[in-house]
Amino acid sequence: MTAAGRATAVAHPNIALIKYWGNADADLRLPSNGSISMTLSGLETRTSVAFVQGLPSDRVTIGGQPAQPQAAARVSRVLDRVRSLAGIPRPADVDSVNSFPTAAGIASSASAFAALACAAAAAAGLDLEAPDLSRLARLGSGSACRSLFGGYVEWLPGSDDASSFSVQIAPPEHWDLVDVVAVVSRAPKEVGSSEGHRRADTSPLQAGRVREAPLRLAACRRAILEKDFSALAEIVEQDSDLMHEVMRTSMPPLDYASPVTQALRSAVRSWRATGLTVAYTQDAGLNLHLLCPASASKEVAERVRSFPGVLELLVAGPGGPPRVTKADDSG
Ligand code: PMV
Repeated sequence: MTAAGRATAVAHPNIALIKYWGNADADLRLPSNGSISMTLSGLETRTSVAFVQGLPSDRVTIGGQPAQPQAAARVSRVLDRVRSLAGIPRPADVDSVNSFPTAAGIASSASAFAALACAAAAAAGLDLEAPDLSRLARLGSGSACRSLFGGYVEWLPGSDDASSFSVQIAPPEHWDLVDVVAVVSRAPKEVGSSEGHRRADTSPLQAGRVREAPLRLAACRRAILEKDFSALAEIVEQDSDLMHEVMRTSMPPLDYASPVTQALRSAVRSWRATGLTVAYTQDAGLNLHLLCPASASKEVAERVRSFPGVLELLVAGPGGPPRVTKADDSG
């Protein structure tokens, strides 16, 4: 077997401040609405790719284990696009490792597919600009297209493959927000986000959520640019609650709240009412992300650490874009 150059890339996950939920086109992962996120420092996925002559098909390992068929198919979808752009017929050998516990409730698919897009393009010798890498990552996981940029990022929904990609709103150093992730469950979620996106349109509330999304996006963008935490807190919590209402009213319904998540959400609201600068947001999982300015992060972390039912904390600030750490032409 001969390899045509192995490339390795490292990318960070992101936390959505305005959520992507539901697809206008599930195959291309064109979202029903735009979204905004903060890329998370510290946590990362490292992925290496080589296109190898003589492999019968793509070989994908995640954390040293062969990938489940569904995950492997999503990886091959991204690789197929790279092969067609580069004119490479060979299967690929892909190895991916997360620096953070996969079952800790952090969206590892975002960092995984961002790292895959960068490593695969580099291994194929393609010199793609960030928007094109963002479109490539989107084919594997929608939220991954935001991890191609550091700091504060907006995914422009677009209307076709060419127009759906992310842009940076502000670099990481613009605002030192902190995401304190309260891990309340380590169990893998029962229903993954791909299935969740499929159910979104079965909720009668989804149309209203999507219709009003441009207003929430504008409010969030403004709060970020003006570093207005109280405006950010209000819009981020409302947007998260709207998504979870859509989930709860979908058919069949999805409910990601445990009693601990619910209690912590209420606690965050009352902490803020008494002067602590903190807001919550929750993705498709039980764990709660607590956002705060860096100046409040010690106090927030202390309160969350001693909160009944919280198993552990992960703490991240605004992270940078992916980086290709190794591109080796020798095979
Ligand atoms: O990119 P996916 O298919 O894993 O979906 C992400 C969905 C949420 O995390 C709930 C929201 C978001 O915008 O990241």
